Amino acid sequence: MKKIIIANWKMNPSSPKEAGQLFSNTVKLISGVKKTEVVICAPYVYLSGLKKLSSKISLGGQNIFKVEEGAYTGEISADMLYNIGVQYVILGHSERRALGENNLNVNKKIKIALRAGLTPILCVGEDKRDENHGYFNFVKNQLEECLNGVQKDSLSKIIIAYEPVWAISSTLNRRDANANDSREMAIFIRKTISDKLNNQNKMPRIIYGGSVNERDAEDFIKNGGVDGLLVGRASLNAKKFSSIVKICEASER
Ligand code: 13P
Repeated sequence: MKKIIIANWKMNPSSPKEAGQLFSNTVKLISGVKKTEVVICAPYVYLSGLKKLSSKISLGGQNIFKVEEGAYTGEISADMLYNIGVQYVILGHSERRALGENNLNVNKKIKIALRAGLTPILCVGEDKRDENHGYFNFVKNQLEECLNGVQKDSLSKIIIAYEPVWAISSTLNRRDANANDSREMAIFIRKTISDKLNNQNKMPRIIYGGSVNERDAEDFIKNGGVDGLLVGRASLNAKKFSSIVKICEASER
């Protein structure tokens, strides 16, 4: 399966002009890339415009509502994203969890996204690490509650992003995670998921996110036990983001 590099632009940039430039510059810089899938998860208001610029990069949303349609002022549905040509959606990001998102809602959103034909990018990850390794159980519980009732053969359609909150660039007093942190959790996530699968079911892709930059991307890709990366801040710079994509491309056999 292809490796995947996903940009999460979060609530940036502040105008469609800048969004278009960032997108077009990124497209240009990765023009030779063939083996790596590239996705940009942009604010809703830019998605239709970006779709018209290039199909080289797939598009993703950063959230959907937990109900399919109806009187929910201000919300955006999975079908709306799908019907404008969006393929992916980030769900359960820690920045949304900090605003009140919980596993039960994320579970509803995953099922709705799958039904609509979107690929959910499910974010899991602990706030902090403790000496007793309780963070493994924390992530296991997130996985179990968020994936509860999801059909076995749909699990492979989901991308699981391990994003330790303590390593994300927006976290106060953050510290770096390393490829070892990523690898041990990727193994644990695979084991947790494989306990839910039959032999014939495929594994979902597992990716790492948390302050990935053009200097450490190679280590995460080669030694982090993951199938790709979820990139926040560095994705707002076309040069840095494209370097990360190219590092991933070069690591493919
Ligand atoms: P940073 O790369 O800015 O730490 O963001 C990671 C992230 O939250 C991606 O979803």
